[in-house]
Amino acid sequence: MAQIKVLDKTFETYLSAEKIQNRITEIANEINKDYAGKKPVFLAILNGSFMFASDLFKQITIEAEITFVKLASYEGTTTTGKVKQAIGLNTDLKDRHVIIIEDIVDTGHTMAQFLPELEKSNPASIKLAVFLHKPEATLVPITIDYCCFSIPNKFVLGYGLDYDQLGRNLPELYQLCE
Ligand code: IMP
Repeated sequence: MAQIKVLDKTFETYLSAEKIQNRITEIANEINKDYAGKKPVFLAILNGSFMFASDLFKQITIEAEITFVKLASYEGTTTTGKVKQAIGLNTDLKDRHVIIIEDIVDTGHTMAQFLPELEKSNPASIKLAVFLHKPEATLVPITIDYCCFSIPNKFVLGYGLDYDQLGRNLPELYQLCE
């Protein structure tokens, strides 16, 4: 198993790039079927979801739009619970079918705070597509409509996710070594 060092921590490979891409194809196929004729708007939450959003959106074959917002502040290896306001949401979402693209649901606080905000825009529907879910860490129940992988409660890095802003460029997912 390949190991890498980022700052003071060592990580080992957890999901290969191929496994990630294969699962994204499955999720994209589901969305293509569920949203045919609905012209959904994908709303990608920056920064962590940029790689997942890009790979997922490339496999969307129905008519669809994508837009981006920036939300949470997250530092180090524990969730702070502090969530910033949505920045840059300038697409009119009224009566639109919105699919949120998020990197990971960890405690669930980010989505629990953002979903009511989004509802104020009166979209026709809101669904949530996440790359990762840590069920053991989730404190606020969140309905995840499209989940690529459920993972153990360990810090992960790569494929858009960072450790102190590093490691986002890795095409595979790594897990913190104990
Ligand atoms: P929440 O705890 O569900 O509110 O997650 C907040 C944010 O923390 C996520 O959107 C990620 O950006 C970040 N995050 C949570 N767990 C991890 C992790 O294991 N690695 C890197 N970032 C994480």
